[in-house]
Amino acid sequence: MTTNPSSVSPAVIRLARYGASQLREIVGDDDDPFGVAEAGLTWLPKQEHFAVRRNGRLVAHTGLVTLPLSAGPVETQVVGFGGVVVAPDLRGHGLARLVVTSALEHARTMGPQYGLLFCRPHLVPLYQRLGWRTLQEDVEVEQPDGPVVMPLRSMWVPLRDGAQWPVGPVRLRSLPM
Ligand SMILES: CC(C)(COP(=O)(O)OP(=O)(O)OC[C@H]1O[C@@H](n2cnc3c(N)ncnc32)[C@H](O)[C@@H]1OP(=O)(O)O)[C@@H](O)C(=O)NCCC(=O)NCCS
Repeated sequence: MTTNPSSVSPAVIRLARYGASQLREIVGDDDDPFGVAEAGLTWLPKQEHFAVRRNGRLVAHTGLVTLPLSAGPVETQVVGFGGVVVAPDLRGHGLARLVVTSALEHARTMGPQYGLLFCRPHLVPLYQRLGWRTLQEDVEVEQPDGPVVMPLRSMWVPLRDGAQWPVGPVRLRSLPM
């Protein structure tokens, strides 16, 4: 009996290195693969990288980085999710779900109570389907010239049972991811 390769869920791998050339392997020569260039923000590289390789080519990625954040009176840490991207020719087949879910499973072992991400408004439903919640508060983030209000949507996910997002102004004490 033969196995249809398309029916087998691909494996998520960890990458030690993820930079411009790995991103290009996924998206090709797209100057603005995340569609956020007009926001003019400076972003932070991620520390841990989850990816899918198909026929030797990287086709999907999600990155994680632990960052300090204050929310109301609470000083805490969050696991920032970023660099979520899937090869243009393979979108709509569950690869984002696969890498984000795998990164989420790992994030639950990292210590912080909350995951945080920023996305364009049309992607809010995608992340909601993966268990993320919209943060109603504006989020201030660091930039080279000082803090600014993040213009994208902010979403969070509990990384521990029962974690509740603290009430009050939210400030990410780093560049955004
Ligand atoms: C956003 C992106 C990563 C989605 O990748 P994908 O592999 O097509 O997504 P999936 O097929 O895994 O979809 C996951 C879920 O979200 C839904 N979804 C996918 N794209 C969506 C969209 N644009 N709007 C609403 N829902 C969407 C799917 O229906 C699916 O739900 P289901 O699993 O319950 O059926 C991909 O379009 C991409 O790389 N875009 C450019 C980079 C980018 O904008 N990244 C986001 C940074 S925050």
